[in-house]
Amino acid sequence: MLADFIVIAQPTIDKELQRVVTKALFKSYPGIEDILRYQLGWESQSGQGKRIRPVMVLLSAGATGANWRCALPAAAAVELLHNFSLIHDDIEDNSQFRRGQHTVWKKWGIPLAINAGDAIFALAFDAISRLSETVDLQAAQRSTMLLAETSLQLTCGQHMDIAYERERQMGMDAYWAMIAGKTAALLSASMRFGAIAGKAGAEQEQQLASFGHYLGLAFQAWDDWLGIWGDPNELGKSTESDLVAGKKTLPVVFALEQRGRFAERWIRGSIRPEEVGVLSGWLIDEGAQAFVENQTQQLTEKALQSLQTAGCDNEYTDNLHELALSLLKRRR
Ligand code: IPE
Ligand code: IPE
Ligand code: MG
Ligand code: MG
Repeated sequence: MLADFIVIAQPTIDKELQRVVTKALFKSYPGIEDILRYQLGWESQSGQGKRIRPVMVLLSAGATGANWRCALPAAAAVELLHNFSLIHDDIEDNSQFRRGQHTVWKKWGIPLAINAGDAIFALAFDAISRLSETVDLQAAQRSTMLLAETSLQLTCGQHMDIAYERERQMGMDAYWAMIAGKTAALLSASMRFGAIAGKAGAEQEQQLASFGHYLGLAFQAWDDWLGIWGDPNELGKSTESDLVAGKKTLPVVFALEQRGRFAERWIRGSIRPEEVGVLSGWLIDEGAQAFVENQTQQLTEKALQSLQTAGCDNEYTDNLHELALSLLKRRR
C-alpha cells in the first residue's frame, strides 16, 4: 500500500534533504539556513509540502526492479528544485500564503527570498551529484543534464504563465504548453530520474516519464480547480488570487472559449476581490468546473495507460497507480 511506503520513504527523503541543506558553508553565514528550513517545513508541522515528486522518483526506481534507496539523491534534488520554484513563484504571483503559513518573501522580504531561492536551486545540483556514489558516474551525469533541462522547461512555462497575465485571451493549446513546462516537466523528470537510477531500458524509461507527464498535466489542471473552488484553509493558499491576478487557469481558458457571461466580464478588465464569488459561480454555470474535472480524469487515465505500457509489474507500480488516483481526490 502507498501509505506503508510513504511511512518509510518520507523520513528517508527528509534525511537526504537534511544532509544537503546542513552544509558546512552555511555555518559561516548565519540566517540563510533558517529560510531554507522554513521553506522545507522543518520549523512547523503544517508547513511541509506533500513530497509528491520525491516519492515518485523512489517509486519509479522501485518499479524498474532496483532498490529505491539508490535514487535518494535524485529524490532530494527534485524536492529542492520544486521548492526553489515555489519561493520564486510566490514572489512572481504576489502570493502571501503557502501551506498555511506566510511565504518566504512575505516573512523575509523579496531580496532575501530571491537569494534563498537561488541557494535551493544550487543545492538541487549538489544533491543530484551524489548519484555517482549510490548508482554510478553515468547515471549522475545524465541526471545532472536532465535537471538542467527540466529547470529550463520550468522557467519557460513560468514565463508563459506570467506573460499571459497581461493578455485577456489564451488559447487551449497555449494553456497545455504552459503547464507542460511549469508543472508536468518536473513530474515527468521525477519518473525519469527513478528510471535512470534503476537502469531501466529506453522504452520503459520513456513510458515512466510519460506517466509523469500526463499526471503532471492532471495535477496542474486540478490545482487550477482548487485555486478557485478549494477551501483556502485546507489548501493553505488563496482561492481569490488566480482570478484577481488574471491568471489563465483551465476554468478561465475554457470559459473564454464559451464567450458567455464570464468571458464578457473578463474582457472588460481586472476582476475585483469582491466579484470572485459571483464569477466562480458563473464558471460553474457555464460548464468550466465539469470540464476541468473531466480533463483531470482523462489525463489521469492516460497516465495510467503509460504506466501499464511500461511493463513493470510489482508493488511499486501498484503504489504509483494508487498515487495517481489519490491525486484526483486531493484537497490540498
Ligand atoms: C504546488 O505543488 C505547485 C504546483 C505545481 C501546482 P504541490 O501541491 O506539490 O506543493 P507542495 O510541495 O505539496 O506544497
Ligand atoms: C505552479 O505555480 C508551478 C510552479 C510553481 C512552477 P502556480 O502559481 O500555478 O501554483 P500555486 O497556486 O502558486 O501553488
Ligand atoms: Mg505561478
Ligand atoms: Mg503561484
